[in-house]
Amino acid sequence: MTSGMDVIRGDLEAIASRAADDLRMLDGSRVLVTGGAGFLMSYLVETLAIRGLHVVVIDNFTTAHRGRLSHLMGQPNVELRDQDASTLELAEPFDVIVHGASIASPVAYRQMPLRTLEVNALGTWALLRACAARPPRSFVLLSTSEVYGDPDPAHVPTPESYPGCASFTGPRACYDESKRFAETLSLTYFRTYGTPVRIVRPFNVYGPGLRRDDGRVVPSLVDAAQREQDLVLHSDGTPRRSFCYVSDFIVSLLRVIARGADGEAYNVGDDREEISMRDLAERIRRVTRAPGRVIVRESDDPDYLVDNPQRRCPDLAKLRALGGAMPCVSIEDGLGRYARWLAAEDPAPSQPVRTQAP
Ligand SMILES: NC(=O)c1ccc[n+]([C@@H]2O[C@H](COP(=O)([O-])OP(=O)(O)OC[C@H]3O[C@@H](n4cnc5c(N)ncnc54)[C@H](O)[C@@H]3O)[C@@H](O)[C@H]2O)c1
Repeated sequence: MTSGMDVIRGDLEAIASRAADDLRMLDGSRVLVTGGAGFLMSYLVETLAIRGLHVVVIDNFTTAHRGRLSHLMGQPNVELRDQDASTLELAEPFDVIVHGASIASPVAYRQMPLRTLEVNALGTWALLRACAARPPRSFVLLSTSEVYGDPDPAHVPTPESYPGCASFTGPRACYDESKRFAETLSLTYFRTYGTPVRIVRPFNVYGPGLRRDDGRVVPSLVDAAQREQDLVLHSDGTPRRSFCYVSDFIVSLLRVIARGADGEAYNVGDDREEISMRDLAERIRRVTRAPGRVIVRESDDPDYLVDNPQRRCPDLAKLRALGGAMPCVSIEDGLGRYARWLAAEDPAPSQPVRTQAP
């Protein structure tokens, strides 16, 4: 039987092979990764650690699970520091800094709006100050596709130049607006001090590492499927998203880290399919062979659909222009890999977990 770690190991092998040229360019670097125990950054940390780079991980475990990187502890090239990125003071230099610390799940950021604002605004500021004192070769900010808000359909697929249509006062603004601020701040450091800032805007990435109580739509629906319950949609099922499997995301992230241009933002995701929430739920049902139906039920949270974007699909022309491997994992393969990991590593509890928006 496949274990959850086997699924992740397979992903890491695929990343190492597809991103070999970019990893070669980073050889010998000392890398700081904030939020390094979280879903996306733990994949990056493992990829760099396997390659033999020196990696310092900062995470205060607001949402991360302490066991995720435990197998790397004791390895001389990996250091895990339980620290708050919002108040970080860095004494030592790094070649590359990747700022991934944030509160990314809608369930979590609505429970912790002030801490979300803090890590996105003050955490980014603390790191940029450290970069101005001891410049790295690159500072990579993990922003979000949420900076585009609910885009005008004429701008979907959405290019980086689209200024966005986002609420700065609504229930999601603690996340969306502080990411926008983090981008403004980063580009101001680039223009003022020449800080080598590169911005990555992930579009709906999913995969092993997302626990069943994360609150994002893929874990919530796969959780329901594995507990043989109905797959509940809280929208009318028509909002559309483009989902990107984690290994595809990390390959593109490494391309931006190694070859992106300073002062530029890059969409990173998968542009091959834009699928509705109903279609996503049906595909999850098929992949997991779940007996439940796909049903629509209003959320108990009155803010649930406020400012929920109707469409989200990246224009990847800028990423493509950097060359390198583009997304290749199909949604069916990605969901299958994720479902196998979840069943093995995070067995279904008897109580239902809350579903949330993508
Ligand atoms: N997964 C996606 O689809 C997606 C989409 C858009 C943007 N992003 C961005 O990518 C980054 C990683 O997202 P993820 O999906 O892996 O989320 P995640 O929640 O799994 O990871 C975030 C990590 O940051 C840590 N963290 C939070 N506050 C912190 C603080 N003050 N100090 C130190 N650590 C702190 C958490 O404990 C967690 O380990 C985030 O910046 C997120 O906003 C992700």
